[in-house]
Amino acid sequence: MALLRLLVFCTLAACCVARSPPQIPLCSFPLPRSCNDSEVQAVAGFALQSINQDRKDGYVLSLSRVHDVWDHFQEDMGSVFYLTLDVLETDCHVLSKKAQKDCKPRVLHESVYGQCKAMFHINKSRRVLYLLAYNCTLRPVSQRKIHFICPDCPGPVDLSDPRVLEAATESLAKFNSESLSKQYSLVKVTRATSQWVVGPSYFVDYLIKESSCTKSQASCSLQSSDSAPVGLCHGSLMQGPLEKSVSVTCEFFESQAQVPGGENPAVTQESKKQPSEDDEAPQKNKAPVISPSVTAPKGSVQHLPDLDAEKPQGSKEKSPEEATEEKSPEEAFPVQLDLTTDPHGEKLDVSFLYLGPEEKKLVVFPFPGKESRSTKCPGSAGETNPLILPP
Ligand SMILES: *[C@@H]1O[C@H](CO)[C@@H](O)[C@H](O)[C@H]1NC(C)=O
Ligand SMILES: *[C@@H]1O[C@H](CO)[C@@H](O)[C@H](O)[C@H]1NC(C)=O
Ligand SMILES: *[C@@H]1O[C@H](CO)[C@@H](O)[C@H](O)[C@H]1NC(C)=O
Repeated sequence: MALLRLLVFCTLAACCVARSPPQIPLCSFPLPRSCNDSEVQAVAGFALQSINQDRKDGYVLSLSRVHDVWDHFQEDMGSVFYLTLDVLETDCHVLSKKAQKDCKPRVLHESVYGQCKAMFHINKSRRVLYLLAYNCTLRPVSQRKIHFICPDCPGPVDLSDPRVLEAATESLAKFNSESLSKQYSLVKVTRATSQWVVGPSYFVDYLIKESSCTKSQASCSLQSSDSAPVGLCHGSLMQGPLEKSVSVTCEFFESQAQVPGGENPAVTQESKKQPSEDDEAPQKNKAPVISPSVTAPKGSVQHLPDLDAEKPQGSKEKSPEEATEEKSPEEAFPVQLDLTTDPHGEKLDVSFLYLGPEEKKLVVFPFPGKESRSTKCPGSAGETNPLILPP
């Protein structure tokens, strides 16, 4: 397979030698890199940070390991990296804007793990670090396997369960009753688990926003209803034989009125330049060019059910080890990320990243690596438990 790919590359290379300048040569192509190369590790870290910054929903993702990596170095432009990253959800909401390193991974039985594909552009001399696109797929850890280790651990519950809403409402009421003046209302429940303690118990995470009501007011004045979430609460409702007990803690996000992406020079640069007529300017070059939008989301995160829940129940019992061996990551964590389908590559206008007058174009290829990857991949996974690593 590797030989075949090499042959394809040679054909592409030959055809680009035949093409004469001044056309941008499409002769270079992505090449596999080692997954635990220190530069690749650093790039993976920047890419995941950018993914977390781009998201409006869900929990901050942390890196378990680099699953696969291809590097396309383009003369006069720098690199486009094609990264496949194995990731884990942390306990921080993306709206908290906390860095990955300040977030704790979840306990094993509540883990959510998966895979992201990302295309990331780097030009070291111009200090450009830019996420072109990403897509991720996440699943909760297999409850069947957790049950082997910890039969009494809390398990996930459907967010539409009425007792989930009850736990959120009751715990928020407690928080509001203890608050001195400001009152808060529920935006949405983001996570829920349940467990039998001395009775049914529900544990919920939910987003809150400032309510237009104040404590002293009997009724609430009508105010703008679409205010942004200001914090994340962890609440619980435990039903005992005689009485129920409610607990709540809330953490407030840092003010949204900050300089966006302060530590990342490319992101800062990008945010200064708002989309203008320049971006819509007719292309001088006749070749088809994709123009990324500066403001549109660059990708999405898909949540899929427990991998075991997809299988028909009652089939021959297998040990947890056997069950994982059957699926490739592509099947278990399907992630599609293609800015082009043209096997010869397509040009992507990234002039907005370079504040100069000249046009800057990157060549992008269909996401490589479906059939072959570096032997030095996946990289090492550190301490990560195999139960929460994509196969
Ligand atoms: C970065 O971009 C500049 C100008 O766009 C180019 O001259 C330079 O070669 C690029 N740097 C790298 C490392 O490719
Ligand atoms: C990202 O995934 C979605 C489906 O989840 C798909 O529609 C979209 O085309 C993907 N984006 C890219 C750039 O491939
Ligand atoms: C690189 O990855 C391999 C596994 O693919 C691992 O055995 C090795 O220890 C890693 N090397 C370093 C320097 O991390």
